[in-house]
Amino acid sequence: MLSDMPNVIVRPDGWLPDKAVTPETAFVNRRRFVQQLGLAGVGWAASRWPASAAEADPYAKGYPFPRSKDFNPAGALTDEKVASTYNNFYEFTLRKDVHRHVSKFQTTPWKIEIGGLVERPMTVDALDWVSSMPLEERVYRFRCVEAWAMVVPWTGFPFSKVADLVKPKAEAKFVRFITASKPEQMPGIGDNPEYPWPYFEGLRIDEAMHPLTWMATGVYGKPLAKQFGAPLRLVVPWKYGYKSPKSIVKIEFVAEQPKTFWETLQAREYPFESNVDPGVPHPRWSQATERMIDTGDRVKTKKYNGYGEAVGRLYGA
Ligand code: MTE
Repeated sequence: MLSDMPNVIVRPDGWLPDKAVTPETAFVNRRRFVQQLGLAGVGWAASRWPASAAEADPYAKGYPFPRSKDFNPAGALTDEKVASTYNNFYEFTLRKDVHRHVSKFQTTPWKIEIGGLVERPMTVDALDWVSSMPLEERVYRFRCVEAWAMVVPWTGFPFSKVADLVKPKAEAKFVRFITASKPEQMPGIGDNPEYPWPYFEGLRIDEAMHPLTWMATGVYGKPLAKQFGAPLRLVVPWKYGYKSPKSIVKIEFVAEQPKTFWETLQAREYPFESNVDPGVPHPRWSQATERMIDTGDRVKTKKYNGYGEAVGRLYGA
C-alpha cells in the first residue's frame, strides 16, 4: 500500500533506527577507556561494559518524560517507523530517506548561541542546557506544505523559557533561528550548492512566545534521532513544517523581520507568516486536504492546523 504513494520510501526489512546501534565513536571511546584502565584483553571488562542507552546517546538521560494531558489530541499517533523514515532535512538529502544519510552527523559537543537584542546573551552547551530544562512530552499535529501530515509526541520545553533566560529587550520584535551547516557531515549541502545554506527561519516575537511554540529535544519518548533535527529543533504546530528549523545553532532576537531560507528562494510560495490555511493553495499543492503519512488517509486540513482557538488571537481572529 505504501508503495502506491508518491515519495514514500518503503523500508527494507531489517532496518534498524540509528539509536538502536552503538555508534562507532562510542565503541572506540569505550575501548580506549578499557585500555586506559589496563584491562585491554581482559574478557570480563569488555563483557561487563554495558552499551547503555545513555552511553550510546548522551542526550538520553531521563527519558521518557511525562506526557502532558493538555496537549494530547484524540486519535492515533503516527507510526514511529514511518515518521522516522519520511523526513525533510535538505542538508542531508532532498529525498525523504534522510535516516540513510546522517551517519557522519555529530551532535556532541553542540554549542547554541543565544543573543541579539537581549540583556543576557549566552552560549550554551546543548547537553548541559537540555538537561537543566523541565522537559515534558506533548502530542502535536504536524503539517508539511507538501500536503502530508503526522501526529507526533515531542519532548521538549516552551520557547518562552529561552526568553526567560536571556531577557529580550523591548526593541526585539522577531526571533531568528540559524541551523547547523557542516558540509563534511551533511552531504546535501555540497550536493545542492544553489541553496542559501545554512537553513534559517524566523518568527514574530509574539508567535515565538506563544505557549504552543516548542523547543523539541526528543520524539517518541527518546532524544531526537538525527533525521528529526538533533539535538534541538523548533516545532510550531500551526505553521507549515518548514517554519520548524532543525539542529539549531543560533537564536537571535532582532528588531526587523528576518529573511528565511525558503523566502529567499521563492518569496511568493513561502511567505514569512506561513500559517496552515486550507483556503490558500500553494502553486504546487492544494492545501485543502492532507495525507497521513502512515495510513495514507486523506483528511481535511484545518485552518491553523486545528490550533485556531489557541493562536487565532495572534492574527486578530
Ligand atoms: N530544518 C532544516 N535545518 N533543514 C530542512 O531541510 N526542513 C523543514 C523543517 N525543518 C528542514 C528543517 C521542512 S520542509 C519540514 S516539513 C520539517 O522540517 C520536517 O520535519 P520532520 O522531518 O521532523 O517531519
